[in-house]
Amino acid sequence: MANLESLASLAAILILVLVEVAVLSSFAAAQLRPDYYANVCPNLEGIVRYFVKQSMVKSPISAPATLRLFFHDCAVMGCDASVMIISPTGDDEWRNQDDYSLKPEGFQTILDAKAAVDSDLQCRYKVSCADIIALAARESVSQSGGPNYTVELGRYDGKKSTDRSVRLPHPGDNLDSLNAYFSTLGLSQTDMIALSGGHTLGAADCGFFKYRIGGNDQSMNPSFDAQLQGTCAKQNFAFLDDVTPVGFDNFYYRNLQNGRGLLGSDQVLYTDERSRGTVDFYAANQGTFFSDFVIAMTKLGRVGVKTAADGEIRRDCQYPN
Ligand code: HEM
Ligand SMILES: *[C@@H]1O[C@H](CO)[C@@H](O)[C@H](O)[C@H]1NC(C)=O
Repeated sequence: MANLESLASLAAILILVLVEVAVLSSFAAAQLRPDYYANVCPNLEGIVRYFVKQSMVKSPISAPATLRLFFHDCAVMGCDASVMIISPTGDDEWRNQDDYSLKPEGFQTILDAKAAVDSDLQCRYKVSCADIIALAARESVSQSGGPNYTVELGRYDGKKSTDRSVRLPHPGDNLDSLNAYFSTLGLSQTDMIALSGGHTLGAADCGFFKYRIGGNDQSMNPSFDAQLQGTCAKQNFAFLDDVTPVGFDNFYYRNLQNGRGLLGSDQVLYTDERSRGTVDFYAANQGTFFSDFVIAMTKLGRVGVKTAADGEIRRDCQYPN
């Protein structure tokens, strides 16, 4: 009896120790947390929310450009705001041809929000540009009608940015290429399909999809083809979701079902039977799209996060300290 009791208490201690180890190690791994700035800059989210709103009032391009900026930041060298660095030698990510189409409105949104954060004496020089990008991307989504989700914080800014580090997916990529690319970021096919739903906002230059129009792509709806030929004859861009270009919703997927995806990498998600089921599912369930989008954005926001050891809190988002 006594033996049994001491065995039980030994087991209880063992379980306690195991739980503690698990909690401690997960704490050490999870550097990011939503309340990271709660003491140093309690108003952070409200400041960023307000200034993203101002940017969106100034320009309808602001929200899509800011969301895309977050993807291009995290996908190259991790979420460290390296995409914003302007190098005096001209060797930086931004001038790589795959980043060159990033719209100035996205950069400006971050610069305005950062200036506002740093004008608060309590917050000054304490909040990273990388975290402001993550928060501004969330605001761009939620203020466009998309999910309003919790953002993990605590990223440090990178100290360098180079042209040759840029590796991004391309609009002509097939499903295998897209999956191969996103798997390098630790993201699954489902994450990739959900994140592609970011193309519910914004536009693309005709140069990115011109090769598909004029009857060249069987997966394109002929009336959409004719429409795009007209659009590109009079302006150089078309909306990625032309039903609701400024609303964050699941029309992106419903368009794909109708052969009305703008980029090859969009339409292929429906053409390829291995991804079609997920497209159909998101087209029918906006709520599931929203929750999967949040999961995937949170995972994307953890890619290559830097710490005090290899990063800094940049004072000017365009220049390392
Ligand atoms: C799956 C692979 C992807 C490819 C091949 C791709 C490619 C492109 C291209 C070619 C454009 C047009 C750029 C221009 O003409 O200025 C674009 C725009 C955009 N992309 Fe993607 N993208 C991908 C994934 C993503 C992801 C993961 C997000 C964010 C979650 C995203 C968000 C956007 C947004 C919001 C725009 C509109 C930007 C604007 O209007 O300024 N994209 N993308
Ligand atoms: C998102 O949630 C926050 C916190 O509850 C709230 O202050 C903000 O207004 C919400 N944003 C939108 C666009 O609904």
